Amino acid sequence: MDLIVARNREDLVKARGGGEVALVPTMGALHEGHRSLMRLARSRADQVVVSVFVNPLQFGPNEDFSRYPRTFDSDLDVCRAEGVDVVFHPSVDDMYLPDRQVSLLAGRMGEIVEGESRPGHFDGVLTVVLKLFNLVQPSVAVFGQKDAQQLALIRRMVADLDVPVEIVGAPTVREHDGLALSSRNRYLSEDDRQVALALSRALRAGEAERRPGAIREAAREVLAAAGPRLDLDYVVLVDPATFSEVGEEHAGEAVLAVAARIGATRLIDNVILNLNPA
Ligand code: PAJ
Repeated sequence: MDLIVARNREDLVKARGGGEVALVPTMGALHEGHRSLMRLARSRADQVVVSVFVNPLQFGPNEDFSRYPRTFDSDLDVCRAEGVDVVFHPSVDDMYLPDRQVSLLAGRMGEIVEGESRPGHFDGVLTVVLKLFNLVQPSVAVFGQKDAQQLALIRRMVADLDVPVEIVGAPTVREHDGLALSSRNRYLSEDDRQVALALSRALRAGEAERRPGAIREAAREVLAAAGPRLDLDYVVLVDPATFSEVGEEHAGEAVLAVAARIGATRLIDNVILNLNPA
């Protein structure tokens, strides 16, 4: 079957098959990380829908909404190569009514860690994701662990609002040298890229330690050694479900998450650790 491009909600209704749908929400500029989500979606449903929508609601006034990479033609090639059934690519005016009023609030968990640096970001993410769920009506939706707090908040939304969608998390896809794939990597010069490698290196240094204090310190040390071109935002070791910092005696899973700016480009990365296993 040929790939169907749905540009508005009417097209989307027409494109819907009879069976179960798996949705992969994206903002385009598709890379190997997105492709891994599509493959997971393929294994979970009869029809795979990929949304490509750069959501203005989740960008702050000083963020990169207008210059976010838009590469729709090559995104379509990627989706075709992955056997995607429908690409939903609405315009901003199609998604948001001019007189819209109601939106979601992520709550406390949307204000900490990444949310502290990006006020309102997760409100915008949850609002668009719930709208996409309502429009596409998937039984399954796939999200990357790369955006660990986003994934945790989407799980929280689904639980808190009884949204009838199963959320599937997918592992982070990296370059051979460790750099996590991101649509924003294309902003990096070759020199920037070398500096950016400190993020994944810091996570690996943290992974080699056993206790929360030592884990945070090891990661911080690597980031400090990257020099002044890396402007560190945060290093945290948090509970994967709540994103609150774990204590020194924490046992079980924890997420070591970092964010830093290299020049004008802000990058995030994280790894899941298993602390004090029995
Ligand atoms: P975007 O940044 O395009 O990411 C779309 C999906 O791809 C997210 O679930 C993200 O976690 C996943 N992803 C990104 N890089 C990845 C990598 N290296 N490995 C595995 N998965 C990766 O996240 C968004 O868009 C938006 O916030 C969205 C959910 C679409 C709402 O607008």
